[in-house]
Amino acid sequence: MADSTDSIDSIDPKLVPRAALASGEEIPRIGMGTFGSDKYSPASVAAAVSGALRYGYRLFDCASVYGNEDLIGGVFEDAVQSGLVRREEILVTSKVWNDMHGKGDVLLSLAKTLRDLRLNYVDFYFVHWPFPNYHAPGCDGDTRNPDSKPFSAEHFLDVWGQMERIQKMGLARYIGMSNMTIPKLEAVLPRCAVPPAVIEMELHPSFQQPDLFEYCAGRNIAVIGYCPLGSPNRPDRDKAPGDIVDTELPEVAAVARAHNIHPALVCLKWAVQRGQIPIPFSATEKNYRANLRCVTTDPLSAAEMEALKGADKNCRLVKGQVFLWPGAKGWEDLWDV
Ligand SMILES: NC(=O)c1ccc[n+]([C@@H]2O[C@H](COP(=O)([O-])OP(=O)(O)OC[C@H]3O[C@@H](n4cnc5c(N)ncnc54)[C@H](OP(=O)(O)O)[C@@H]3O)[C@@H](O)[C@H]2O)c1
Repeated sequence: MADSTDSIDSIDPKLVPRAALASGEEIPRIGMGTFGSDKYSPASVAAAVSGALRYGYRLFDCASVYGNEDLIGGVFEDAVQSGLVRREEILVTSKVWNDMHGKGDVLLSLAKTLRDLRLNYVDFYFVHWPFPNYHAPGCDGDTRNPDSKPFSAEHFLDVWGQMERIQKMGLARYIGMSNMTIPKLEAVLPRCAVPPAVIEMELHPSFQQPDLFEYCAGRNIAVIGYCPLGSPNRPDRDKAPGDIVDTELPEVAAVARAHNIHPALVCLKWAVQRGQIPIPFSATEKNYRANLRCVTTDPLSAAEMEALKGADKNCRLVKGQVFLWPGAKGWEDLWDV
């Protein structure tokens, strides 16, 4: 299998495809995830961020709930102080966790994130989930929080108002939403003073969410795709019988064979060429290098892109059942299915 990544010291960030935001600003069309899936230690995630920065990644997807922003912040600080990058050259996202939706809490949460990340502002700040339902870190799939509530547009708009304020304060250059559905967006977008610049959603070949993806594209909202490789090491609570392994899909495997590359790289090429911004996580140097490099070379053909469209199985991996409220029937309720 072709793998010439190890002989290359770094990728020039200028060679990485760019995505345009509604503001006109262009950002890298691939970033690095930092969720350790309750398995990778904060130190190993931070070490990967450090290696990835040196290799040429410029977009990093962080969140307070990942429990590693303090160590990742040390990496950003060193990178800027050593002159590896200027602050303006990197794009950092973070997210307000579901237990910080109360009055004034969004600002408190962002203040802690900024202190941990050693930054004066984040580039993107997301509402991680559109309800105040949370679970303990590392919980199992049967965990339920009795205080959980169904989605409420009023509640969400309260949180969004706080997001708009932190943007006005200059603490987040852009604000975004995550884990939304079309019905939820329909309920809130007409009432948002500032529309989301970006929406983060699960996207991989077996879960392409074509309707939501097109909905965002039609409104000039950029899309960040999480679990772009089908999150093979996701927490056990996010594993269910019948889940599809993206890298084993026949359509993905066939393209991988034709390009002599790992099927994971097919998922990333597909994502970038389709128009979303994948944020693969890897703690393995060889993998995170290959993930960035693959989108700068050897694109998929139109026929291959079309074949991969046919790999969609509507297979959501992060079902989110731990966020269900008393009386909910099943995880589908979270997604308005
Ligand atoms: N907004 C949200 O609610 C939400 C939800 C989930 C995730 N996210 C974000 O999305 C990011 C990505 O999702 P994810 O981490 O769950 O899943 P993912 O990126 O689809 O998969 C990551 C896994 O793939 C393996 N991998 C990476 N590159 C590979 C390669 N070239 N070949 C073979 N295996 C490879 C990694 O193992 P190695 O370490 O061994 O390479 C890692 O365990 C997260 O880190 C997080 O930032 C956001």
